[in-house]
Amino acid sequence: MNIAVILGTSKSDGNTRNLAESFVDLSGAKLFDLSEFDISFYDYEHENRSDDFLPIVHELVGFDHIVFASPVYWYSMSAQLKVFFDRLSDLLTIEKGLGRKLKGKSISVLSTGYNLKLPDCFVKPFELTANYMQLEFKGCEYLAIQTESDLGKVSDSAAQALENVT
Ligand SMILES: Cc1cc2nc3c(=O)[nH]c(=O)nc-3n(C[C@H](O)[C@H](O)[C@H](O)COP(=O)(O)O)c2cc1C
Repeated sequence: MNIAVILGTSKSDGNTRNLAESFVDLSGAKLFDLSEFDISFYDYEHENRSDDFLPIVHELVGFDHIVFASPVYWYSMSAQLKVFFDRLSDLLTIEKGLGRKLKGKSISVLSTGYNLKLPDCFVKPFELTANYMQLEFKGCEYLAIQTESDLGKVSDSAAQALENVT
């Protein structure tokens, strides 16, 4: 299975990057770190159509499965990833043909946070967006990181994430 990982975090060498990289090592997935791209907020006038959003999606249609990797920031996905999700609206308006090419693919979520339990509200936008866009939702792997020793759980968590999607 051909897998892409879209990483949105405020810390490019932080916990979520660590988990995402471990997943990439195991799966051979391609990593897209949103901090390396210029993607602006959704614009009703679509004046941002030549930023990096559409080129990334053109690449993504070549993958079978997309993993969204985000820390939990205030019970939600990171702002970087939320901007990317808002821009999916471009695929329902100015780029419908490109949007249709995503249909039938699957997605999953990789996440890190401090609290032991991931709140249900974190997962819902991924699940509901997948449903709306006719993508198969294959679940969320969450790793709580409270101490240095929790970092030792990263590779097991990445392996579990891979098992969930293959
Ligand atoms: C702005 C901000 C908000 C956070 N909110 C939460 C939260 O709601 N729940 C939680 O469990 N952890 C929360 N945390 C902790 C991070 O999710 C956790 O440290 C995560 O592993 C950081 O990943 P990163 O290194 O990719 O940023 C928050 C951290 C920050 C900086």
